[in-house]
Amino acid sequence: EKGGFEHFMLKEIFEQPEVMRDVMRGRVRVEEGLVHLGGIHDYLDRLKQAKRIVICACGTSWHAGLIGEYLIEEFARIPVEVDYASEFRYRNPIVSSDDVVIVISQSGETADTLAALRLAREKGAMVMGICNVVGSTIARETLCGMYTHAGPEVGVASTKAFTAQVIVLFMLAIAMSKGRTISHEEIRLNLRELAEVPDKVARILEQNDAIKEMAVKLKDARNALYLGRGYNFPVALEGALKLKEISYIHAEGYPAAEMKHGPIALIDEDMPVIVIATRDNTYAKILSNIEEVRSRKGRVIAIASEGDREIERLTKDVIYIPQASAAVLPLLTVIPLQLLSYHVATLRGCNVDRPRNLAKSVTVE
Ligand code: M6R
Repeated sequence: EKGGFEHFMLKEIFEQPEVMRDVMRGRVRVEEGLVHLGGIHDYLDRLKQAKRIVICACGTSWHAGLIGEYLIEEFARIPVEVDYASEFRYRNPIVSSDDVVIVISQSGETADTLAALRLAREKGAMVMGICNVVGSTIARETLCGMYTHAGPEVGVASTKAFTAQVIVLFMLAIAMSKGRTISHEEIRLNLRELAEVPDKVARILEQNDAIKEMAVKLKDARNALYLGRGYNFPVALEGALKLKEISYIHAEGYPAAEMKHGPIALIDEDMPVIVIATRDNTYAKILSNIEEVRSRKGRVIAIASEGDREIERLTKDVIYIPQASAAVLPLLTVIPLQLLSYHVATLRGCNVDRPRNLAKSVTVE
């Protein structure tokens, strides 16, 4: 059942190119510049007219929501707020029938997310779901939605469900912008970038052995810092969550520029810093963040774009990912971070599929 892999988590990481193709199948038509989302087709006009979109979720699904915020705001130019479902439900949020609330949940059973959904409905918002488990409670109680079609995810650490959620949000952002905010040509370019992601992910997975070697350097750390900017900021959060939940190493994710507002005080030779430093509009800034870490003797592991020689001046520990447009980068940069956590956890002898104190779906608050 693990398909020859030692753990479900590793199997699920390696399934991602195929899962990504499944998520897009029948939905993405690159040449026509079209996205077809059957589950929300009848509600798309209302969605495009929303004054505001609120995304509610927990954990990794919340990280996908943050990427969704960047995508929807960039492409569809509609304001988006992302809230932890547990905060949203208890703070008497301002929501009305002008708003669309999107709940994201792999399991479709997370107690706080379900409660947020019910509250948003009571307040008159249109509620859409992005779920993986077909027929789950959240999928049933939302007005409309989209399934991620990632197949069963057994490992407690979410991997393929996350990348499937991000693809769904990407398709949604494009569908919402069509005929409104971006040109047909831009839509085609973005869909082409998206369609190329599965093959690029497959190429990253080929570096598994090299990533495992890098994990040796992290395995005895007590803390780790993950930094990213722009679309890669939520990936930094996700990388840190993956590490802490399965290897029990304390890790924090930060938007890189926030480092000097506090976390920089922690940096010394015992603090590994994983920096996502891809070639996008934040690249120059990220390089100076790396210099700041290095001048305090922090150990840097960089995730960088193929062909980038400049980065090697700053650190020898580099994992390269294929070049891609900024909006699809999270789908690539998260892959080495998933593998890194997996290997660190196995090197430390942890039970990666069933980490202590954690359940696959959190059905009580
Ligand atoms: O099933 P859900 O997507 O609603 O679950 C939300 C979180 O419990 C979940 O993402 C959790 O953070 C994972 N263990 C992360 O890997």
